[in-house]
Amino acid sequence: MLNFIYNTPTKVVFGRGAEAQAGAELKARGATRVLLHFGGGSVRRSGLLDKVEASLREAGLSYVELGGVAPNPKLSLVREGIETCKREKVDFVLAVGGGSVIDSAKAIAHGYAEGRDPWEYISGGEPPKKTTPFGTVLTLAAAGSEMSNSCVITDEVTHLKRGLTTELNRPLVSFLNPENTFTVSKFQTGCGIVDTMMHTMERYFTPDTDTDLTDRLAEGLLVAVRDAGRIAIAHPEDYEARATLMWASSLSHNTLTGCGHNHTFTVHKLEHDFSGLHDHIAHGAGLSVLFPAWAKAVYRQDVRKFAQLAVRVWGCEMDFDHPERTALQGIRAMQAYFGEIGMPVTMGGLGITPADYEDVVNLTTANGTKCAPSCYGEMDKARILEIYRIAEQPV
Ligand code: NZQ
Ligand code: ZN
Repeated sequence: MLNFIYNTPTKVVFGRGAEAQAGAELKARGATRVLLHFGGGSVRRSGLLDKVEASLREAGLSYVELGGVAPNPKLSLVREGIETCKREKVDFVLAVGGGSVIDSAKAIAHGYAEGRDPWEYISGGEPPKKTTPFGTVLTLAAAGSEMSNSCVITDEVTHLKRGLTTELNRPLVSFLNPENTFTVSKFQTGCGIVDTMMHTMERYFTPDTDTDLTDRLAEGLLVAVRDAGRIAIAHPEDYEARATLMWASSLSHNTLTGCGHNHTFTVHKLEHDFSGLHDHIAHGAGLSVLFPAWAKAVYRQDVRKFAQLAVRVWGCEMDFDHPERTALQGIRAMQAYFGEIGMPVTMGGLGITPADYEDVVNLTTANGTKCAPSCYGEMDKARILEIYRIAEQPV
């Protein structure tokens, strides 16, 4: 087990009616005037925004609204949010939505406190040193941004989608009511299941680590998500299944399932350039296509671990004479599961053709001059193109 720091300062208020506590919890953190940040309208239609506003009013807090966050959240709205904060003199930012809304809120909170253009630090410049207090009311179990230390924003002019990792990204408080996810579509539920699984799997696959406890936490989470996912897709209002998915979303990306590992998040890096360049691609859908292809490209370098996952999570029988067969069987079972829950599993299903490859791979590799982060050998342009080609067919 490698040395690690486990730091998850976010207070989680979980369960039915959780959002009703927003006013009191924000007030206890010194809030007086709140920026309520949300997306394209789902929280208005569901009545959630009204409930949050009522809770703030009850606690004597004033607020200003800024909606309109699009999936794969855009830099221009972050800039607008910072101007709104200045004009309205807010002292707390509350995101009401999914990962895109939360990430936009994080970027606004940092930019408002720093007095700098947010793209400076999102694109890899000097990281922010301070932020504005912020929290979340989660409506979609997926990105894990409600507890994570990351924030992903797209510059819609250059199509660069970039992530900022800093402990400042941890929300002070997150309100998680599984009922607020009942209205999530089957497609977005599927995207969320894949993304939640990926945050654990990208941490799980690291060579040369002996971390039995972390492995078993990861495998337990994956099994629970696998089963709850099937139920939530079939019965969107099943509270227990939605509750499992929601809590798993948070635990999968708050670092718990990676303690003691050295991880690189290779497939996330590959995917972000697809959804950055092709706005119609949902993050979870991109991962659903790319992860099995990546796994097929690298599993021979870590047969033991891929076979372990196949047996413990995907119900495969261990072939002790040919463990590599078990490993590959597990990758196929995972891909079959993604297909079963309605996710695309090939480039064609994602709306991508070979003619699109060059632009995406050039973004990822800075025109072939850089490699993507990887813990299974160098991930240069040629190797990434090989993964794209594997993804043209089911593995
Ligand atoms: O905008 P509204 O109207 O709210 O609709 C959204 C949106 O169209 C809808 N939705 C959300 N909650 C709903 C709902 N519809 C009905 N009922 C509800 N309760 O779902 C659509 C997708 O929302 P979005 O927030 O984009 O999805 P998700 O939570 O999957 O977030 C994806 C973004 O997070 C980033 C991704 O790259 C992507 O940009 N990620 C952020 C991470 C982080 N900060 O830690 C880590 C992840 O790996 C990921 O990269
Ligand atoms: Zn993700």
